[in-house]
Amino acid sequence: MITCRGYDEVIRRVYDHGQEHLFAEWDDLSEDERELFLRELAQIDFDLMNRLYRERDRAAHMDFRPAPYIRIPLTDDERRERRQALERGIEVIRSGRVAAFVVAGGQGSRLGYDGPKGKFPVGPVSGKTLFQIHAEKIVRYGRKYNIAVPFLIMTSDENHSETVAYFREHDNFGIAQGDLFIFRQNMIPSLDRSGNLLLRERHSLFKNPDGHGGSLTALHTSGALEAMRERGIDIISYFQVDNPLVSILDPVFIGFHDLRKADVSSKALKKAYPEEKIGVFVQFSNGRIGVIEYSDLPEEKSRETEASGELAYAAGSIAIHLFNRGFIERITAGTEISLPFHTAEKKLRSYVRGEFREIAGLKFEKFVFDALPLTENNVVFETLREEEFAPVKNPTGIDSVESAQRLMSDLHRSWLAARGIAVSGATTVVEISPLLAVEPGDIDPSLRVPETERVYLE
Ligand code: UTP
Repeated sequence: MITCRGYDEVIRRVYDHGQEHLFAEWDDLSEDERELFLRELAQIDFDLMNRLYRERDRAAHMDFRPAPYIRIPLTDDERRERRQALERGIEVIRSGRVAAFVVAGGQGSRLGYDGPKGKFPVGPVSGKTLFQIHAEKIVRYGRKYNIAVPFLIMTSDENHSETVAYFREHDNFGIAQGDLFIFRQNMIPSLDRSGNLLLRERHSLFKNPDGHGGSLTALHTSGALEAMRERGIDIISYFQVDNPLVSILDPVFIGFHDLRKADVSSKALKKAYPEEKIGVFVQFSNGRIGVIEYSDLPEEKSRETEASGELAYAAGSIAIHLFNRGFIERITAGTEISLPFHTAEKKLRSYVRGEFREIAGLKFEKFVFDALPLTENNVVFETLREEEFAPVKNPTGIDSVESAQRLMSDLHRSWLAARGIAVSGATTVVEISPLLAVEPGDIDPSLRVPETERVYLE
């Protein structure tokens, strides 16, 4: 067994868990590298890694049926209820009780972009990045409701510094420094298929961010949750970095959340077809609401239809949620309740004896929607796809930059139409700056649109 002053207990633990292959190149490491490596190993919960490996394929679900949800209004009663929600939502926003929270710690591997995904340019005319679009929406809400909206950004070790630097270089896109909170999520080691820890380089472990579900813990451990408590924030509006259409402070959604005293509210949209790769909202046999990943929904259930011919499991999750601060505090305070880890088999580029190799490995991640069944007080709220969902996951094709830009242009065109503003037949692309409008009502009906092929309104 190797030894190192002050670290023998850590080394012993590595051997006890059969992970001594990690020290294969110990003799070649410098003093500094050894110390860094041992400090990292001291943080590893080997029992957790063992348990995750042993239990990796056990994803058991209770029985479930489709979850009830607040649908797009069809009746007068539903329209009235929506108006009441709108009024309440505006009151809640005006009282400064809501913070915006984007999870941006992912690796964006499908997009293949080298850098934080938030720096990816998506504005169809302006070329504005995802981060800029989100930040400018928040600035606009602040002006509209005469409040300061805190903007929380979760990063991971891989993109934290670059994200911080990016906001600094651009004066936070107009957000006051005191309203911006950028913090990291946890990282968790990956394993090979025999349960061995892997190396990223010869003196550090291969780890991955612990999933968007890690965001609730990170809010707590970073101190952001405490800062929100001190500011009187009690609703956290959660969204993903790769959806430029998200309505970050939606008064109707916030109004329903508040009126129904929900702990968690979630937006849903009608699934386009049974195989669409989005999770669906379900109600488990204990009455609680949750989300089942598309890969876990049995095929016959995904095809099941109602008498009307509509899909039974129609309410798809688009990862937009409102979390009560108190709820997050409750579930992150102790160690008893913690979100489960899911396992994904991935090719991992790791360091093995002097070279980098693609290893068939196991990545562990928490999913934020696993928090839903931890409460009985949920709202699931239907929204329209064309108004709110344009995920940028791939370079081309489905859920790509192209499709997101088309959706942005279509939506902004529809906002102009809603205000009775004419757009020339020569115009092919329309983009409206978030600083001008976050909803059609923000646009002055006397606005004139230039008769050019590509229109940018700011
Ligand atoms: P995805 O599951 O789409 O992952 O994340 P991704 O990393 O962006 O892309 P792929 O799968 O590698 O291609 C959905 C949202 O959750 C965030 C992402 O940044 C994105 O906003 N996320 C994901 C985190 O913040 N942390 C994670 O550990 C994983």
